[in-house]
Amino acid sequence: MDESITATCIAPINIAVIKYWGKRDDKLILPVNDSISGTLSTDQLCAKTTISASPTYTETKFWLNGIEGDYKTNLRMKNVIKTMKKLAKKKSPKNKALKWKLHICSVNNFPTAAGLASSAAGYSCLVYTLAQLYGIENEDLTPIARLGSGSACRSLDGGFVHWMKGISPTGEDSVAVQLCDENYWPELRVLIIVVNEAKKSVSSTNGMSLTSTTSELFNYRIMKCVPERIRAMKKAIAERNFKDFGELTMKDSNQFHACCLDAFPPCVYMSDVSHRMAAIVHGYNKNAGETCVAYTFDAGPNVCVYLLEKEVRRFVTMLAAFFPCDAYDEGKFVRGIPIKYLSKISE
Ligand code: ADP
Ligand code: DP6
Ligand code: CO
Repeated sequence: MDESITATCIAPINIAVIKYWGKRDDKLILPVNDSISGTLSTDQLCAKTTISASPTYTETKFWLNGIEGDYKTNLRMKNVIKTMKKLAKKKSPKNKALKWKLHICSVNNFPTAAGLASSAAGYSCLVYTLAQLYGIENEDLTPIARLGSGSACRSLDGGFVHWMKGISPTGEDSVAVQLCDENYWPELRVLIIVVNEAKKSVSSTNGMSLTSTTSELFNYRIMKCVPERIRAMKKAIAERNFKDFGELTMKDSNQFHACCLDAFPPCVYMSDVSHRMAAIVHGYNKNAGETCVAYTFDAGPNVCVYLLEKEVRRFVTMLAAFFPCDAYDEGKFVRGIPIKYLSKISE
């Protein structure tokens, strides 16, 4: 009799409007600052993970986008699985599947390691799929997703999510909480504009480590800027005030990249095209006489644009004038993604 069990889930990416960048504990993945993000719909960009557990498997194996990874050296994945098993054992000590090895297969339907939050979608999906596999319900999984990749703790909820850095050295209070759900600001949209699909040369993990150890601007950001920005961003979201929301989002992205450039050697994530896109957004807002479109860039050259639904057509048409070839192919080059509650799972 085949006793093996399987679960499949999908998970969304999230795009931070106040960025997480810098850790106070590398192993527990405890950040030096709070961060806030919007979770995108799984309609277009998502990670899909299938995990099976079987008494016949002799070792745990992992595939990402069809290529087998080295599970033995993947300390983060091992830590996440170990922690999930511990939780599952506490809930149902007799679950024999906990003794079985796993086969984990994950696919991202968007560029991996290109600054589009693949680690957030990937690790939130891993944690959620393990929870389904082992029957874990009604638990805050955000501190476990955090052990895979910090930003992943913000992908377990839809709408806007606040990751609180916490103060405990052991990390129990470094959790993500939902600020509002996907229905709260239904007109909000995010465009993801892929300018380069290539894997970045410096991972987020290494980039933030280098920045926090070598940049002087970084300390200024953490001590003087982020706490007030978190307060202001929460207020802007609570009031659905796009002007404040958009300006804070752009300023925080700019400051984060300024800190990256202040690292030594510098971490250069934005490309010429990224800078041109940012200039286009400023030109568009100036022309409109108000801030109605806001860019933000994660650790990569690809562009994320927050805007209201009523602005999408006009903005995309304008963009097409600057980048004629690709921009007309809406499905491929410019993708419109409504922020809404993301199906955390689909089995
Ligand atoms: P990104 O900007 O895409 O988040 P990072 O440098 O933060 O880039 O992380 C990329 C790494 O995250 C990948 O090299 C891989 O180790 C991990 N990752 C990405 N997608 C997945 C996934 N679906 N499942 C597990 N791990 C993933
Ligand atoms: C620029 O969460 O990918 O996207 O915790 O080392 O895995 P690790 O890093 P990661 O960093 C994300 C950085 C960011 C900003 C953000 O998402 O808040
Ligand atoms: Co990442």
